[in-house]
Parts: sequence; C-alpha cells; structure tokens
Amino acid sequence: MTRIDSTTPPTTATLQPLAAGALVHAGAGEAPEWWRDAVIYQVYPRSFADGDGDGIGDLPGITSKLDHLAELGVDAVWLSPFYRSPQKDAGYDVADYRDVDPLFGTLADFDELLAQAHARGIRVIVDLVPNHTSDQHAWFQAALASPEGSAERGRYVFREGEGEHGELPPNNWQSIFGGPAWTRVTAGAGARPVTGAADEVPGQWYLHLFDSSQPDLDWENPEVRSEFEDVLRFWLDKGVDGFRIDVAHGMVKAPGLPDWDGSVSMVEGTEGGGASDEVVDPGAPEDGSTGAGNSGPMFDQDGVHEIYRAWHRVLAEYDGDRALVAEAWVEPLSRLARYVRPDEMHQAFNFSFLTTPWSAAPLRTVIAASLRANDEVGAPTTWVLSNHDVVRHASRLGLADPGLRPNGIFAHEAQPDEELGLRRARAASLLMLGLPGSSYLYQGEELGLPEHTALPDDVREDPAFFRTQGAEAGRDGCRVPLPWHAEAPGHGFGPTGRTWLPQPESYARYAADVQRGVAGSTYETYRAALATRRAERLGTGTLAWVEEHAGSDDVIALRNRDVVVLTNLGSDPVVLPRGVEVLVASGPVRTDRSADPQVRVPSDTTVWLRAL
Ligand code: GLC
Repeated sequence: MTRIDSTTPPTTATLQPLAAGALVHAGAGEAPEWWRDAVIYQVYPRSFADGDGDGIGDLPGITSKLDHLAELGVDAVWLSPFYRSPQKDAGYDVADYRDVDPLFGTLADFDELLAQAHARGIRVIVDLVPNHTSDQHAWFQAALASPEGSAERGRYVFREGEGEHGELPPNNWQSIFGGPAWTRVTAGAGARPVTGAADEVPGQWYLHLFDSSQPDLDWENPEVRSEFEDVLRFWLDKGVDGFRIDVAHGMVKAPGLPDWDGSVSMVEGTEGGGASDEVVDPGAPEDGSTGAGNSGPMFDQDGVHEIYRAWHRVLAEYDGDRALVAEAWVEPLSRLARYVRPDEMHQAFNFSFLTTPWSAAPLRTVIAASLRANDEVGAPTTWVLSNHDVVRHASRLGLADPGLRPNGIFAHEAQPDEELGLRRARAASLLMLGLPGSSYLYQGEELGLPEHTALPDDVREDPAFFRTQGAEAGRDGCRVPLPWHAEAPGHGFGPTGRTWLPQPESYARYAADVQRGVAGSTYETYRAALATRRAERLGTGTLAWVEEHAGSDDVIALRNRDVVVLTNLGSDPVVLPRGVEVLVASGPVRTDRSADPQVRVPSDTTVWLRAL
C-alpha cells in the first residue's frame, strides 16, 4: 500500500476532489446470502491440475490445489462438468448426470473435494446441462432402440422431415457449432444416424442445437422435468452450494418450431456462426446491449421461467443458501433480469459486460444498466470477463480492433499485442472487482494467462472447429492446462509433464510459482484486490460516478462505499489529487515524490483509492 500526501500544490490537471454524484446503486448493506457478493472462480477440470499423470486434469488434482484458491481469497468455485461423458464437447455432453467420469475420478473423489473445499470456507457450485444429453445417455440409446411415437422418443425432439419423403429437416435451424441442427436416423426401432447406405430406410430427425452428439431434450415432457429435479436433489444431498445452469435460455422452444433466418451464434460469434474477423453490431448501446443476446424461437421463451420456479422450490427445501446461476445469452439486461426474479434463479452471467469493448462510455453504460436491471428484481449484478467459451481477456483486449469477437485465434491471423492485452486485462479485472455485486473469475486469469493462439489444428478438440470445417479456431485456446511451476515438465500441470493440449512457450513466464510473493505480479494483484474487496465490503457496496469524470471518454471513476475505483483508458496519464491513499493498483503507479510530487495513473491502469 502506498501512502501519497504530496505537499506541493497540484497543477490545473489535478483531479479534485473525487466528489461523487447521485447513487446509481444503493448497495445491499450486508449480504444476507453468500452469493450476493461472492467472488466465484471457475475451475475447468480437464485443465486445472492433473493428479494421475494422464495429461487430463481431474478431481484429486483440484483438491490438491485448493490451498492456492484459499490463498487467492475466492469465496466459491464453479466446476465445469466432470460427469460421465464421451467428451465430444468437453463434458457438456453428459451420459450420466449422477456419476463422475473415470477421466476425472470417482464420486468418492468428489465427496473429498467438497469436504476439503468446505473445510477451507470455499463453496462449490456444479454445472448442470439440462438442454441436451449426450447421445450415449441411456435415454437417447433407448429412444433409438424404440419406434417412432414411443415414450422413449418423446423425451427428445424427434420429428418427421419435410419434403416428399421426409428428406428435408423439419425446419431450417442451424446448430450453434455450425451446420444443420437436425440429424436423420433410420426408420423404426433400432435406429441409427443415416449414412446413405443403399439398404437403409431413413426415418425421423432429431434436434440438436449443438453437436449431433448432443440431442435436445423435450422440456414439454413431465418426465424430463421430474428427472432433472431428481438430479438436483442428488447433488444437493451431497452438499453442493449451487448449480450453474448451461444454456438456461434454451430449454423451451417456440410451439411448432417455426423457421428462423437470424443468427444462432452464441458468444456473439465465438461459438459457430460468426466469421472470426467479424465486428459485431453493438445492438442498442444505450441500454448496455452489445449484440451478445441470442434470439429466435429456440431461445428465451417465456415458458422457460416455470422450470426455474420449480427448481427454486427444490433448492429452498435445503438448508443454507443454495444458488442457481443462469448461463443465458439474453439481452437487453432487463430481459436477462427476468431469470433472477425473486422466485427463480439467483444470479445470471453478465455477458453484456463481458462483450463491451474497452472504452469508457460504453463500459459506464453497461455497468449502470446492469445494476439498474438487477436492482429492479432485487438480484445481485454479476460481472465476468473470461470463461471457457471466449478468448481470454488478456488476449481479447490486446486485439487491434476492440470490437472484434473471434471464436478463437489462428496463428495465421492478426495476433493480439500481449503486453497491451495484459495491461488492459489487469485494469479491467480491477475495475470489475471494484464493482458491487458478484464476480466470476476464470482459472488462469489470476496469472494473466493469454489465449494459446498457435495451436496446431491436429490437436484441436472443440466441435465448433470441426462443424465449421475449420473456419473457426474454436475454444481450445482458452482451455490449455494451467502452468503451476515454470521449470517443471508441463509446467507442473501434473506428475508426468503430459498435457492434453500443448502449452505455449510463454506459459513459463506466467507460472504460479514465479508470481507468488512477487509484488506487482498479476497473481499478487488479484490477491490484494480480493483481500481489499473483502475488507472494504465492496461486493455489497454502492456505486456513484465521480462527477469530474462522469462524461469522460478516457476515464471511468466511481465511488463504492469509501473507495474510489479509477480506470484510465486514455493515452495520457491521470493525475491524482493530493492526500489519497492507493489501496491497490493494476500496474506500476509512480510514487517517487522527490522527482515529481504528483502521482499519475498511466494509460490502461486501474487504481483503488481511499476516498477523501
Ligand atoms: C454452454 C457451455 C459450452 C457448451 C454449450 C453446450 O454454452 O458453456 O461450453 O459447449 O453450452 O453445452
């Protein structure tokens, strides 16, 4: 912590006196429930830490690194899927919702992870994938084994095709990963996908909004609803603290499955659909929209809310504060807030924030719009900059065009500026962590990890790469195994040095062990931010814009309780007023008062100041 109390008079450019205007957000005071102000760390199990040396991360690996998370200071972890799965979409294709895939360990390993996390005061949220199952799930296998019109087929969306012989898909929907959203199977019981063989008798088609190995469930079917309530109870009985709900806006489709000619890409073109040099239409910027929302008859149908009301009641039967978190690519924010009304889910990821370019005015707009929309329904606002589906923000923010939202980056494409990206990423993270509400971190961002932008195509696994015939790199570049030790084989990912994706050479510089205890490292900056955020109770705090910068194109300055969060997005340094205390800074803030009495916040830097 640096104390600054210059005795030399300020120049005209001096910021003075950081007076804040009217409250945009009044704050929760105290958080009655843990999730209202929690910092939640996403663990992507296959890439976090490998316990058994097969090159794929696992549950014992996660347990062995819980001290890292406790030391970092997070409140909870969200585990991406570790259930039984053929891994066609890295576990988002679930074959058994009540068992652990042998790749990741056993149910006993999960119990141990949960107990060890709880012993350290860390809550655990698991991922639930209810829109679709794997084609290897017993239900889908039974559907294929059973004839048209059977109860087994009725759990999925099987339809007759169009055209004289049913040779055309039932409608024109496209898969989010690219290609058609329908696959045809042979006629009658014992069906299998048609191959075009001469002796085949083609039959019905089934819907898959994602890969053909991920058939959509029919949520009009009460059996599907009761099955998932039972799955919730299975994990609640084990003691989990909540669920992240995958594709929460997709389960209910418009009646009649009408054609749709709009785009279906999720992540605004990062998952299929969009070309990787696409600059996305910003939607209606005055309400914080960025074009990140999905529309069409397969998304955000009103009927989906009844499911969440039922799930809310299930969670309420359990002690403690269990939470439901929506992964819903819905805009505007007021529409997204419908998922977190008092009797539905508890949080929803804020993808409008994630997709807002690095620019002061749009960021202020999305921050205010987010708080307004969530305050309306009494829910905490969430903030997120990275996850397993998007280019890591240390690389995204280093792209020349701030509006670019590629679905992965190929080696032959324009490369992000690594230094600029990291500087902006740290500034963006410190801005995010200074906001009231709950923040989500993606594993490795506390190390400042960049995207792997030079993966050879023959190691890629993301179905989006294959379904777009290689037009999109896909999401593998943000899923590379973490570097724990700079000098160890595989940078200490596991005991053998094997890693399921190769790590870029730069990962040695980012390894956890070379950052721990090093003042100013990305890791220590995150740790200081989390400790200060907790001490100053920023998560349940307030938001008011600092008047002097309220309309600035270069500076975002806000007051949260007694702390001023100031981000300089411009090219000139911002001069701080005298007598303020810098609590945390995202980058070097020169404090050599003998040379120059003023403290300047350089370009692309965030500081937290004790307000005057
Ligand atoms: C969600 C997941 C993504 C997955 C998709 C299909 O968007 O975050 O990783 O591919 O759903 O389950």
